[in-house]
Amino acid sequence: MDDLIEIWTEKYRPKKLEEVAGQDNITNRLSAFVKEKTLPNILFAGSAGIGKTTCAIALAKELYGDMWHRNFMETNASDERGISVVRTTIKDFARVKPFGAAFKIVFLDECDALTPEAQQALRRTMEKYTRTTRFILSCNYSSKLIPPIQSRCAIFRFKPLEDADVKKSIEKIVKNEGLEITDKGMNAILLVAEGDMRRAVNTLQSVAITAKKITDEDVYSVAASLRPDEVKDILNLALNKQFIEARKKLADVMLVRGLSGLDVIKGIHRELLDLDIDERKKAILIDKLGEYEFRIVEGGTEDLQMEAFLAQVSTL
Ligand SMILES: Nc1ncnc2c1ncn2[C@@H]1O[C@H](COP(=O)(O)OP(=O)(O)OP(=O)(O)O)[C@@H](O)[C@H]1O
Ligand SMILES: [Mg+2]
Repeated sequence: MDDLIEIWTEKYRPKKLEEVAGQDNITNRLSAFVKEKTLPNILFAGSAGIGKTTCAIALAKELYGDMWHRNFMETNASDERGISVVRTTIKDFARVKPFGAAFKIVFLDECDALTPEAQQALRRTMEKYTRTTRFILSCNYSSKLIPPIQSRCAIFRFKPLEDADVKKSIEKIVKNEGLEITDKGMNAILLVAEGDMRRAVNTLQSVAITAKKITDEDVYSVAASLRPDEVKDILNLALNKQFIEARKKLADVMLVRGLSGLDVIKGIHRELLDLDIDERKKAILIDKLGEYEFRIVEGGTEDLQMEAFLAQVSTL
């Protein structure tokens, strides 16, 4: 029974540093700290789903063994309580002596969501407990952190995973879960994931609920993503001045698949560079795409904006 509700991203989260895919540079450096039993304050920077939290937990497990929970606290800075989390929760944790070790670890996720004032408070807390506590701060953009924090941390930059690494991990899960996947299905997962392992694994799990042999159709139908051939069809129709047909086709897929305007923009953006049109037109289209993304984010009606975009394409 448990199997049915188990979340695969947790089930298959690497437990050791050496099991983490595609971040050898980082895991090697972290392993060296484990060996020396020392740790600086650390800043993990990089996009979503590529191993930041995973590395922090694996590091704690290797440093502390079974009792890692007593010396490791994970907390999230992104809610509006940001500043109070820094002021109270962390202080409460940091005040208690480390258990059988020289220091404890506070892992603070989404640090770039902290206001500059909250970051100042964090900086003071980092200094106050410097003897017994190390901080691992995690963020998407290191540039959003105030310089005094950046300069107090060793910075580790995580990169999006290579397709080959995502593929290997997905193949392992497919085998272990008794599934099958076609080559096209695998490519679809890689395309949808864009180097984000969490998205790859979540997509696989959603598909596997209904299909044991996974095809690209299955993947695109759960992934809120346009298929490359759909994008090409729609754009080619528009480029050939068949605006009404392009519009209908786009409206159909958006409706059937439940895609948002931003999903569509992302799909188009992905395919645009491969499209067989001259460079100048490509540049104009990318510029337009950016403009329509902005309009949607600012609250423009999605269907209308996408239609307006196609109208622009058909006047090129
Ligand atoms: N490098 C990796 N190797 C193997 N699995 C990974 C890797 N990165 C991510 N995963 C998988 O994706 C899940 C989420 O990863 P993780 O929590 O480490 O992401 P993150 O980088 O902290 O993302 P976020 O910025 O959203 O917090 C993990 O539980 C694991 O299943
Ligand atoms: Mg994380």
